[in-house]
Amino acid sequence: MVGELRRIDLGEAERLLYPVIPAFVTSEFNGRVGGMLAAWWTQLSFKPFLVGVAIAPERFTYKLVRSSRIFALNLLDFKYVDRTPLLGDVSERFYPGKLKVAGFTIVKGDVLGAPIVLEATAALELTLMDIIKTGDHDLFIGEVKAAYAREEFKGLWDLRLYKPLMYLGRTRRPDMVRRVYVAFKDVDVRELEYAPGPLKEYSNLRFKVLEEVEEAVKRLSNVSLEEKLQAIARILESHGLDPGDAEYYLEEVGRRLV
Ligand SMILES: Cc1cc2nc3c(=O)[nH]c(=O)nc-3n(C[C@H](O)[C@H](O)[C@H](O)COP(=O)(O)O)c2cc1C
Repeated sequence: MVGELRRIDLGEAERLLYPVIPAFVTSEFNGRVGGMLAAWWTQLSFKPFLVGVAIAPERFTYKLVRSSRIFALNLLDFKYVDRTPLLGDVSERFYPGKLKVAGFTIVKGDVLGAPIVLEATAALELTLMDIIKTGDHDLFIGEVKAAYAREEFKGLWDLRLYKPLMYLGRTRRPDMVRRVYVAFKDVDVRELEYAPGPLKEYSNLRFKVLEEVEEAVKRLSNVSLEEKLQAIARILESHGLDPGDAEYYLEEVGRRLV
């Protein structure tokens, strides 16, 4: 025990990361369309707009995305929960045409022609940028080239209308495997001001310090690295910040000046 936290067996700990809205990954190569659910996905960068999804090499979808280098991520409403076994338990490799059997219609995206699920609540079209070997899944990094959403999206999701399919995890063999899906029923929505009250001072300080460091770096473009770091350290000290962070600020400003 750590405080009130009880130790969880690592075989079970994956489920601590849920609920997650799984992405329905779709791709097409040589006239063959396939797709699967993926709970392990996330945005990786604003600029470029990158999203990563972990796909196991044995998935048929793996092969489709690697070959075509184009894919789509679709989000489903909870009302499609009964169709998920075909998407997440059965491979296109052994069940050709499973998306059609599941009752989904595939249309082509406007920008890349990626296979998009007509019934989806939202969809992204991506080009494959890289595949990174991780463990038993590989990280597919895609650049988002187009995005689509139904009326439930009004700049933010309207949670009175949007009822995404969410995944809570599965039970383990040898007992019968059960997957658990959930949806929002009642939600608490609270809008908080960004860095409110006394925190504003700290968020403003960041911009002020960065501006001063940026000016100093531009002004001192011809001096040695050591002198630059000393100048930055002085700026940090003048704001009561740790001068030992000078190198970190120099790196940040370097990225901003690129
Ligand atoms: C809710 C859910 C989430 C899943 N998440 C992933 C995932 O993130 N990565 C992965 O490789 N497989 C994941 N799977 C398993 C694949 O969806 C499943 O193996 C699928 O049948 C592969 O189909 P395919 O061989 O036609 O590509 C998930 C399954 C479910 C039901």
